[in-house]
Formats: sequence, structure tokens, C-alpha cells
Amino acid sequence: MVADAALRADLVVVGAGVAGLTAAVRAAEAGMSVVVLNKGRGWRPDDLDPGTATYFAQGGIAVVEPDNDEDSVALHTRDTVVAGAGLTDEVATASILGDGFAAVSTLIDWGARFDRGSDGRFLRTREGGHSVRRVIHAGGDATGAQVQRSLATRALSHARIRVIDESHAQQVLLSADGTAVGVRIGSGDGHTSDILAPTTVLATGGAGHMYRATTNPLGSTGDGIALAYSAGAAVADMEFIQFHPTMLYRSGVRGRRTLITEALRGEGAILVDVDGHSVTDGVHPLGDLAPRDVVAHAVTTAMARTGAEHVYLDARHISDFARRFPTVTAGVAVIGVDPSTDLIPVVPGAHYLCGGIVTDAAGATSIPGLYAAGEVARTGLHGANRLASNSLLEGLVMGRRVADAAIGRKGGAAPSNGPVAATELPIAPRGDLQNQMSDHAALSRDHIGLSSLAEYLQSAPRRRPRTATDHEDAALTVTALLVVHAALARKESRGCHHRTDEPGA
Ligand code: SIN
Repeated sequence: MVADAALRADLVVVGAGVAGLTAAVRAAEAGMSVVVLNKGRGWRPDDLDPGTATYFAQGGIAVVEPDNDEDSVALHTRDTVVAGAGLTDEVATASILGDGFAAVSTLIDWGARFDRGSDGRFLRTREGGHSVRRVIHAGGDATGAQVQRSLATRALSHARIRVIDESHAQQVLLSADGTAVGVRIGSGDGHTSDILAPTTVLATGGAGHMYRATTNPLGSTGDGIALAYSAGAAVADMEFIQFHPTMLYRSGVRGRRTLITEALRGEGAILVDVDGHSVTDGVHPLGDLAPRDVVAHAVTTAMARTGAEHVYLDARHISDFARRFPTVTAGVAVIGVDPSTDLIPVVPGAHYLCGGIVTDAAGATSIPGLYAAGEVARTGLHGANRLASNSLLEGLVMGRRVADAAIGRKGGAAPSNGPVAATELPIAPRGDLQNQMSDHAALSRDHIGLSSLAEYLQSAPRRRPRTATDHEDAALTVTALLVVHAALARKESRGCHHRTDEPGA
């Protein structure tokens, strides 16, 4: 490996999704120099997709306008707390949701366009666990792409933001007193270099690729969790992996699969088993719009009952389908399905990490100088089960807050790192790890399966990661270990964590 000279900035952001770019743009507009590390390939003017989960988000953003007579932040908070199954931090939740409308307004000022009716008001859809129509959207079901494009366009045009594409964060750099002072990165050609800054923000998203099939982009490999944990930061709620009830079924296909947005059910689509019976009848008062953990379990129950590998979503009666849901239309066309005439085969799929790096209300982790925002962070908003469409909102709000914290830290002592130890990490082969996690730590878990999984992961060979793939595989292994240990420790069923050998909470 060849080490290049260090680059200095006021803020270094790892990750280029909603939280990372919001932080970068807000900080740059306040006069800060910002480096954004993008693991994905470079952006092109006609395609600003850096391979983030933000880009693939469909349903929308759950947000309450101040002048909405039918909704309130208090009601949104209540729905979030109910979905979170007793582990939501109500104070953090009310505060994040309360800042939501201002954050969305800033995004609109920065160029995002949401779908509106002829009266100029937002069109709103409903998703699981929401008691009212609260979810705003863009381009029908292309909300994430709209958010990503507006943020990326703003970031790329800003002279104080430098984006380094195809860069892989390898280590959080710590000073002799344990303060984070930046990150060491590697590039595809084997070079490493250090980015030094008084504030480091991790905004790397989730870890869906711990499982065989996921709605997450290829880069969702738990990088930020592993970086923070290896540096000594606290993580929590790692057992709560949310499975989306409706991921497109494709026999034997591993990796990223098309999400079939919950907004379809919000517009009246229904889940039926292969014999045509309702999947959620008698399961929950909200039926197909019950919280995700409930619907996902109803789907697997229906699959077990019928012996089929999937259930169906029947959306044939939704009018003007292709215009309202262009992303789903394109996604299912790949397997020859036309939702206006055909049933859509779906299964639950790994979708969202509810836990993560523990942060306070400002996004600060337990390591001074290190912040986290977005899916990688555990703010207390999601508890044991995230409410649908709260995540883009959280990314916008917490992206602003970590930028504000960084602005307050600007001009501190010029950072320099202490000695950087060459770390050996457990690295399990990715395919094996995905099989083991899918078999023993997915929607349903028990002590025997989790214990054998813990043994498997603990015995993974330890070595120093060298390539970008090594770093991702190490991050997946470290993250999976955290998930499995947390799942073993929680001897109850709660939210997304269902123990078949333990009672419900
Ligand atoms: C969806 O559109 O169903 C996903 C939205 C989310 O995960 O919040």
C-alpha cells in the first residue's frame, strides 16, 4: 500500500445519501470546507445515482405541515412510538419529527419537487402503521431519486465541497486522547490517504447485504457500524433488522431486489396467498397496513400454510398505475409482470437496520469529534421497528444537526492522529455469511440457531483487510456479530426481533 499526504477539511462526511449530502451542503453553505467520501462510482450529469439506499427509496417522506388540521407532530409521534414496540425514545422522536417540516422545506429550497394537487398542496399517501395519509412523494414512487438528485446537484455545484468517488473508508483516525480526527481511506489502486478534520460524520447507511436478498444497494455492507465499533463507539438495538413485507420475488436471485413500495397498499393493493386468500385477515386491525413486522410475519405464515415460495400483491385495480408507480412498473417489467393485469409475486426482504451507532440529539457518538446520521445511527426514533417513511425524514433532520454541530466545532485545534494500528478483523466469505444470517437471524430466530451462527462468525479467519471487498466483508462480519450477540441477549420477541423460543413482550 502507498500512503498519500493527508488532506485537511473542516468536515469529512463518509457517505453520499440523504444524511451525508444534507450535512455536506448545509456545512458548505455556512462557509465550511467539506470532503464527501462516496464509495460508489462518480456521478454523471444525467445520472446522479451514487448507489445509495436514498436513491432507491420509493414510498416517500412522512412529514406533518404546521397547518394540517387532520394531522399533528403529536399524532406522528404516537404512531412512531406504537410501531417502535416500547423501545422508541419519545423525546428524541418528538424532536426529530418536529423539525421535519423545516428540513423538507430546505430541501425544496434546494430544488426538490414533490407531487402536488391542483390546489398546490402536497399529495399524500398512507403506509403501514400511519393513522392518516401523511407521506409526501415525488415522481409518483421515485421519491428517493428526487431527493438524491436535488442534493447531489447542489453538492456538486458547491465550490467548498470536494467529493471523492470510489473511496473506501478503512479506519476512523483517533488522536492520542481518543478524539476522532478524520478517516483513512483506500482507493481502488491500492493507495491509502488520510482525510483530517475536527468533525467526522458517518452516514454510510445500512447492512442489508448481510442477507441473501435485500432491497438495499450493493454498498450496504455495514461499513459505518464496523468503523465506529472498531474505534470504540457504542452501538445499540442491533437485533432489530426490519424486513420489508413486499420485495419482488425472484427464484434463486441473490443480492439487491426491487422494492414493491408499501404505498401500493396505501392506495388499496391487497396481499393474497397463492390460493387467493387474504394474507392479513384477522391478524391486525390495520390489516395490510399494519406495522411492517406484523405484515412480514403474516406473509411468511401464509407461505408456510400454502407451501409456496411467495405471496402476491394484487394492485390490478389501481388506476393509472404506470404514472403513479413508474419505479415499480419498471422493476416488475424485468420479470414480465404488468401490475395492471398481473399479480406481483412478493416475499419479505431485509430492508432497514433500526439500531446502529448510538447518538445524542445532535448526532454525537460516544467518541468526541465523531458523529453519525441516517440509517447507520441509532437516535432512538425507530425503537424496535421503524415506522415506514420516517427514514428520509430522519436523514434530512439529523444531516442538518450534525452539520450544525460541525459548524460549532470549526476552528478547533488542527487535528493530527495518533499511531494507526494495523487491525486484524474477522472476515467471513460473503456468500456463506449471507446464507447463515438468512437461515438463523432473519425474521424468526431461536437460541440454537443464533448460537451456531455466533460460533460460525467468531471462528471466521482474522486478517488485515487489503482490498475494498475485504473491507466490506470485514464490515459485514463485524456487523453480523453485533446483530447476533444482540439477538441472543434479547430473550423476548419485540418489534422486528421475533424469537420463536421466547414469549412476546
Ligand atoms: C416503501 O416505499 O415501502 C419503503 C418506505 C420505507 O422503507 O420507509
